[in-house]
Amino acid sequence: MIKLALFASGNGTNVQQIAEYFADNDKVKVELIIANKKDAYVRQRAKNLGIDELYYGRDSFYNTNIVLEELEKRGIDFIILAGFLWLIPKNLLTSYNNRIINIHPALLPQYGGKGMYGHNVHKAVIANKEKESGITIHYVNEHYDQGQIIFQAKCDISPNDTADDLAAKIHELEKEHFPKVIESIVISQ
Ligand code: GAR
Repeated sequence: MIKLALFASGNGTNVQQIAEYFADNDKVKVELIIANKKDAYVRQRAKNLGIDELYYGRDSFYNTNIVLEELEKRGIDFIILAGFLWLIPKNLLTSYNNRIINIHPALLPQYGGKGMYGHNVHKAVIANKEKESGITIHYVNEHYDQGQIIFQAKCDISPNDTADDLAAKIHELEKEHFPKVIESIVISQ
Protein backbone atom coordinates (compact mmCIF):
# COMPACT_ATOMS: atom_id res chain seq x y z
CA MET A 1 0.00 0.00 0.00
CA ILE A 2 1.26 3.49 -0.88
CA LYS A 3 0.58 5.74 2.11
CA LEU A 4 -0.17 9.46 1.88
CA ALA A 5 -0.03 12.16 4.54
CA LEU A 6 -2.12 15.21 3.69
CA PHE A 7 -0.96 18.55 5.15
CA ALA A 8 -3.52 21.35 5.42
CA SER A 9 -4.00 24.73 7.09
CA GLY A 10 -7.63 25.62 6.57
CA ASN A 11 -10.98 24.47 5.31
CA GLY A 12 -9.84 21.20 3.77
CA THR A 13 -12.08 20.77 0.73
CA ASN A 14 -9.12 19.33 -1.16
CA VAL A 15 -8.35 16.99 1.73
CA GLN A 16 -11.94 15.77 1.70
CA GLN A 17 -11.90 15.20 -2.06
CA ILE A 18 -8.60 13.33 -1.97
CA ALA A 19 -9.72 11.19 0.98
CA GLU A 20 -13.01 10.30 -0.74
CA TYR A 21 -11.25 9.54 -4.02
CA PHE A 22 -8.89 7.04 -2.39
CA ALA A 23 -11.38 5.59 0.11
CA ASP A 24 -11.81 2.30 -1.75
CA ASN A 25 -8.47 2.23 -3.53
CA ASP A 26 -6.46 -0.95 -3.04
CA LYS A 27 -3.10 0.66 -3.90
CA VAL A 28 -3.18 4.10 -2.27
CA LYS A 29 -4.32 5.08 1.21
CA VAL A 30 -4.70 8.39 3.04
CA GLU A 31 -3.02 7.40 6.28
CA LEU A 32 -2.82 10.69 8.11
CA ILE A 33 -3.92 14.32 8.03
CA ILE A 34 -1.63 16.93 9.58
CA ALA A 35 -2.83 20.44 10.41
CA ASN A 36 -0.71 23.40 11.44
CA LYS A 37 -3.61 25.50 12.75
CA LYS A 38 -5.36 24.46 15.94
CA ASP A 39 -8.80 25.62 14.84
CA ALA A 40 -8.58 24.61 11.16
CA TYR A 41 -11.86 23.08 9.96
CA VAL A 42 -9.88 20.37 8.19
CA ARG A 43 -9.38 18.76 11.61
CA GLN A 44 -13.12 18.24 11.99
CA ARG A 45 -13.27 16.88 8.43
CA ALA A 46 -10.56 14.37 9.32
CA LYS A 47 -12.59 13.18 12.31
CA ASN A 48 -15.73 12.88 10.14
CA LEU A 49 -13.75 10.91 7.55
CA GLY A 50 -12.36 8.60 10.24
CA ILE A 51 -8.77 9.39 9.32
CA ASP A 52 -6.08 9.98 11.95
CA GLU A 53 -5.37 13.65 12.44
CA LEU A 54 -2.52 15.42 14.20
CA TYR A 55 -1.82 19.06 14.93
CA TYR A 56 1.69 20.49 15.08
CA GLY A 57 2.65 24.11 15.75
CA ARG A 58 5.56 26.11 14.40
CA ASP A 59 8.08 24.92 16.97
CA SER A 60 7.39 21.23 16.28
CA PHE A 61 7.73 21.78 12.53
CA TYR A 62 10.85 23.90 12.43
CA ASN A 63 12.84 23.08 15.56
CA THR A 64 12.30 19.35 16.08
CA ASN A 65 12.12 16.05 14.17
CA ILE A 66 8.71 15.17 15.65
CA VAL A 67 6.83 15.46 12.36
CA LEU A 68 9.40 13.47 10.38
CA GLU A 69 9.52 10.77 13.05
CA GLU A 70 5.74 10.42 12.99
CA LEU A 71 5.70 10.14 9.18
CA GLU A 72 8.46 7.53 9.22
CA LYS A 73 6.85 5.57 12.04
CA ARG A 74 3.69 5.28 9.95
CA GLY A 75 5.56 4.41 6.75
CA ILE A 76 4.32 7.47 4.86
CA ASP A 77 5.49 7.43 1.23
CA PHE A 78 4.29 10.83 -0.04
CA ILE A 79 3.34 14.17 1.52
CA ILE A 80 0.51 16.03 -0.22
CA LEU A 81 0.09 19.74 0.53
CA ALA A 82 -3.62 20.48 0.19
CA GLY A 83 -3.93 24.12 1.18
CA PHE A 84 -0.87 24.07 3.47
CA LEU A 85 0.56 27.54 3.86
CA TRP A 86 4.01 27.15 5.45
CA LEU A 87 7.37 26.43 3.86
CA ILE A 88 8.32 22.79 4.27
CA PRO A 89 11.27 22.40 6.68
CA LYS A 90 14.59 21.05 5.47
CA ASN A 91 14.44 17.72 7.29
CA LEU A 92 11.23 16.80 5.43
CA LEU A 93 12.56 18.04 2.07
CA THR A 94 15.65 15.87 2.48
CA SER A 95 13.82 12.71 3.57
CA TYR A 96 10.96 13.15 1.08
CA ASN A 97 12.96 14.40 -1.90
CA ASN A 98 10.59 14.53 -4.91
CA ARG A 99 7.86 12.97 -2.77
CA ILE A 100 6.16 16.20 -1.63
CA ILE A 101 3.46 17.55 -3.95
CA ASN A 102 1.65 20.89 -3.70
CA ILE A 103 -1.36 22.42 -5.41
CA HIS A 104 -1.36 26.14 -6.14
CA PRO A 105 -4.51 27.99 -7.22
CA ALA A 106 -2.96 29.87 -10.19
CA LEU A 107 -0.86 29.31 -13.28
CA LEU A 108 2.68 29.37 -11.87
CA PRO A 109 5.15 31.02 -12.24
CA GLN A 110 2.56 33.80 -12.21
CA TYR A 111 0.87 34.64 -8.91
CA GLY A 112 3.17 32.58 -6.71
CA GLY A 113 5.54 33.32 -3.85
CA LYS A 114 5.22 34.39 -0.23
CA GLY A 115 1.78 35.78 0.63
CA MET A 116 0.24 34.42 -2.57
CA TYR A 117 -2.13 31.80 -1.26
CA GLY A 118 -5.84 31.06 -1.26
CA HIS A 119 -8.06 34.07 -1.76
CA ASN A 120 -5.13 36.53 -2.07
CA VAL A 121 -4.27 34.86 -5.35
CA HIS A 122 -7.77 35.22 -6.77
CA LYS A 123 -8.04 38.87 -5.71
CA ALA A 124 -4.74 39.66 -7.44
CA VAL A 125 -5.73 37.82 -10.62
CA ILE A 126 -9.09 39.65 -10.80
CA ALA A 127 -7.46 43.04 -9.98
CA ASN A 128 -5.12 42.54 -12.95
CA LYS A 129 -8.07 41.77 -15.24
CA GLU A 130 -6.57 38.48 -16.36
CA LYS A 131 -8.58 36.53 -18.93
CA GLU A 132 -7.63 33.13 -17.54
CA SER A 133 -6.31 31.44 -14.43
CA GLY A 134 -5.95 27.84 -13.32
CA ILE A 135 -4.20 25.37 -11.07
CA THR A 136 -0.62 24.16 -10.85
CA ILE A 137 0.41 20.88 -9.27
CA HIS A 138 4.15 20.79 -8.56
CA TYR A 139 6.92 19.20 -6.54
CA VAL A 140 7.97 21.13 -3.47
CA ASN A 141 11.39 22.59 -2.81
CA GLU A 142 12.78 25.11 -0.31
CA HIS A 143 11.16 28.12 -2.06
CA TYR A 144 7.48 28.98 -2.18
CA ASP A 145 5.87 27.70 -5.41
CA GLN A 146 9.11 27.10 -7.32
CA GLY A 147 9.41 23.31 -7.53
CA GLN A 148 9.14 21.44 -10.82
CA ILE A 149 5.70 21.70 -12.41
CA ILE A 150 3.86 18.40 -12.89
CA PHE A 151 0.47 19.51 -14.24
CA GLN A 152 -1.56 22.63 -15.05
CA ALA A 153 -5.20 23.18 -16.02
CA LYS A 154 -6.82 26.46 -17.05
CA CYS A 155 -10.18 28.17 -16.70
CA ASP A 156 -11.56 31.28 -18.39
CA ILE A 157 -12.36 34.41 -16.41
CA SER A 158 -15.42 36.40 -17.50
CA PRO A 159 -15.25 40.22 -17.29
CA ASN A 160 -17.79 40.24 -14.44
CA ASP A 161 -16.22 37.47 -12.37
CA THR A 162 -15.39 38.34 -8.77
CA ALA A 163 -12.62 36.74 -6.72
CA ASP A 164 -15.30 34.46 -5.22
CA ASP A 165 -16.46 33.38 -8.70
CA LEU A 166 -12.89 32.60 -9.64
CA ALA A 167 -12.34 30.69 -6.39
CA ALA A 168 -15.33 28.49 -7.26
CA LYS A 169 -13.92 27.77 -10.73
CA ILE A 170 -10.54 26.92 -9.26
CA HIS A 171 -12.09 24.58 -6.68
CA GLU A 172 -13.85 22.76 -9.53
CA LEU A 173 -10.52 22.30 -11.33
CA GLU A 174 -8.91 21.09 -8.11
CA LYS A 175 -11.67 18.58 -7.55
CA GLU A 176 -11.47 17.30 -11.12
CA HIS A 177 -7.70 16.95 -11.35
CA PHE A 178 -5.81 16.87 -8.03
CA PRO A 179 -6.74 13.36 -6.82
CA LYS A 180 -6.15 11.83 -10.28
CA VAL A 181 -2.79 13.53 -10.72
CA ILE A 182 -1.73 12.38 -7.23
CA GLU A 183 -2.73 8.83 -8.13
CA SER A 184 -0.76 8.79 -11.37
CA ILE A 185 2.36 10.20 -9.70
CA VAL A 186 2.45 7.96 -6.65
CA ILE A 187 1.72 4.83 -8.64
CA SER A 188 4.33 5.50 -11.30
CA GLN A 189 7.14 6.86 -9.11
C1 GAR B 1 -6.80 25.67 -2.42
O1 GAR B 1 -7.42 26.46 -3.41
C2 GAR B 1 -5.33 25.50 -2.73
O2 GAR B 1 -5.05 25.50 -4.10
C3 GAR B 1 -4.73 26.70 -2.05
O3 GAR B 1 -5.45 26.86 -0.86
C4 GAR B 1 -6.79 26.41 -1.09
C5 GAR B 1 -7.19 25.52 0.07
O4 GAR B 1 -8.55 25.23 0.02
N1 GAR B 1 -3.33 26.54 -1.83
C6 GAR B 1 -2.46 27.56 -1.79
O5 GAR B 1 -2.81 28.72 -1.95
C7 GAR B 1 -1.02 27.16 -1.58
N2 GAR B 1 -0.14 28.27 -1.83
P1 GAR B 1 -9.13 24.01 0.87
O6 GAR B 1 -8.58 24.12 2.28
O7 GAR B 1 -10.59 24.22 0.83
O8 GAR B 1 -8.70 22.75 0.19
